[in-house]
Amino acid sequence: MTLIKSKKRVTDHGEVFTPAWMVDAMLDLVKGETERIDSRFLEPACGSGNFLVRILQRKLAAVELKFGKFDFEKRHYALLALMCAYGIELLTDNISECRGNMLEVFADYLNIKEADDLYQAASYVLSQNLIHGDALTMRTTDDQPITFAEWGYLGKGKFQRRDFRLDTLSQMSALSEEGSLFAHLGKHEIFAPTKTYPPMSVSDIASSVLEESP
Ligand SMILES: C[S@@+](CC[C@H](N)C(=O)[O-])C[C@H]1O[C@@H](n2cnc3c(N)ncnc32)[C@H](O)[C@@H]1O
Repeated sequence: MTLIKSKKRVTDHGEVFTPAWMVDAMLDLVKGETERIDSRFLEPACGSGNFLVRILQRKLAAVELKFGKFDFEKRHYALLALMCAYGIELLTDNISECRGNMLEVFADYLNIKEADDLYQAASYVLSQNLIHGDALTMRTTDDQPITFAEWGYLGKGKFQRRDFRLDTLSQMSALSEEGSLFAHLGKHEIFAPTKTYPPMSVSDIASSVLEESP
């Protein structure tokens, strides 16, 4: 496995990929969370997805154990597993490789092709969850504030989505610190979504791709 693409990229962006054995050793430190379908992971410098891909594989193994025999649940919980992985990456080639690598693992697991709504929904989720931007400034390459979609599964084929700005999310931990002026406030008072969507099916999510195209 090649851990660098060029010396220049190492110098300019600190781009050194983590070897698979080390990814697994690090994920084992939070093994229980990596095997929980709806635990959320954010990789703020995700590269081509060495951590996120492995996290997805572990979550899909959990889906298989729990729902492997039930096609409807298997498909929906696999999508939920994908929905719980988030990344930020500065470089264009890396973010597109990351989305591609995640989609390949997801599609292989479910044995689905592009024509399947679930494939299109997964592709849309990855376009929302894996952000091309700068984790330090918390802005996208289009200079918009980085916003993450919080997805939840409501059951019966319906998903819930609420969007939150990363800068608000990161301030929240500081505001909740003991002694802070705002420590007494409930989370709901300092933590409001920028947008809440109506419940969506897989095909609703799949058609979001078309709705957002120019
Ligand atoms: C050390 S590599 C790690 C990649 C991956 N996490 C892994 O372990 O294989 C760091 C990655 O962070 C990206 N990066 C550097 N600065 C960044 C920033 N400010 N925001 C987002 N990504 C950044 C680089 O392009 C590179 O892909």
